[in-house]
Amino acid sequence: MVASLSLPRILRIGRGAAEELGAVVAGLGLRRPLLVTDAFLAGTGAAERLLGILRGAGLHPALFDGTVPDPTTDSLVPGLAALREHGADSVIGFGGGSPMDTAKALALLGVQGGGMRDYKAPHVNLGPALPVIAVPTTAGSGSEATQVTVITDSATDEKMMCLGPAFLPIAAVVDMELTLSMPPRLTADTGVDALTHAVEAYVSRKSGPFTDGLALTAIATIGRHLRRAYADGSDAEAREAMMLAATQAGIAFSNSSVALVHGMSRPIGAHFHVAHGLSNAMLFPAVTAFSVHAAPERYADCARALGVATTADPAAAASAKLVDALHTLCHDLDVPTPRSYGIDHSAWTGLTPLMAEQALASGSPANNPAVPTATQIEELYARVYA
Ligand SMILES: [Fe+2]
Repeated sequence: MVASLSLPRILRIGRGAAEELGAVVAGLGLRRPLLVTDAFLAGTGAAERLLGILRGAGLHPALFDGTVPDPTTDSLVPGLAALREHGADSVIGFGGGSPMDTAKALALLGVQGGGMRDYKAPHVNLGPALPVIAVPTTAGSGSEATQVTVITDSATDEKMMCLGPAFLPIAAVVDMELTLSMPPRLTADTGVDALTHAVEAYVSRKSGPFTDGLALTAIATIGRHLRRAYADGSDAEAREAMMLAATQAGIAFSNSSVALVHGMSRPIGAHFHVAHGLSNAMLFPAVTAFSVHAAPERYADCARALGVATTADPAAAASAKLVDALHTLCHDLDVPTPRSYGIDHSAWTGLTPLMAEQALASGSPANNPAVPTATQIEELYARVYA
């Protein structure tokens, strides 16, 4: 089998890497980047600092700070206007997954026009698109290294997964110093997202030897450092390890795939506005318990990488330990159930058939070791509500 792998052309990873952003962009022959971020990062002065770094490299950047959490098609409209007004030749996504995903969508729409619905999976977007440079400020989404963007359709609330090389950043500047100010909840949610990427990339039917290595390394690193980063945000060693693992997990799933957790997570986020990593966390133990029987050896490898089983454990026992460890991790990270999060039970059950349909339509469940029916997905939604 021939593996098809896509990575950013340039990766700068390490403490202080953001200082090199100007040189990276200039080195690509780009002159007029649009820095796409959110109001929070504009308010802290972090965006202005990056603009200064870009100007220092002789570039002419402009700022768009209107991205929203879980970006919608409506939220892209002012961004597209800013892109055109500036005559941008590139887009820099600066922030968590949402600003990076927004930047990717703008880069495509700025060249091709149309609406994001035209570009959703299973359509593969080859481009053309403006080059995207990604500067993450969370250790989670992996969007800096993926050929995926997720945009919510404002008309239907559907979280549309859009994929293809057009969305792969040409460069990623990964600086853990940018994550030091993340509050504990965001640290936990984004960290679990990264762990989900790594596990799903490894157990996916699309996994391969290249992505396997990155996925297992990321699982091991996250297992050793996520609780530390959650407990003490100033733990630089834990932050650096999480940042590296998140990017590795991003490369892994972008070149393998995500699976059932993500397939079921997107509809929860879309309908109930739960943060992406948190809705993953609500599902992760139960979906893993549902799936392990179909690939016990693969899940056992994940358990061993996470440090909760050894080679002395047979596969079935090791994969059961993984399920237990995920329950414990979610407990330790104070992950709520949909019920304790405040989601109304009748709203949850009322939307369950639609959520199951949307989960299946995303294509992600088809990559799961155990491919579920719509009824089984509905049962899982019922089980996790708690
Ligand atoms: Fe994710």
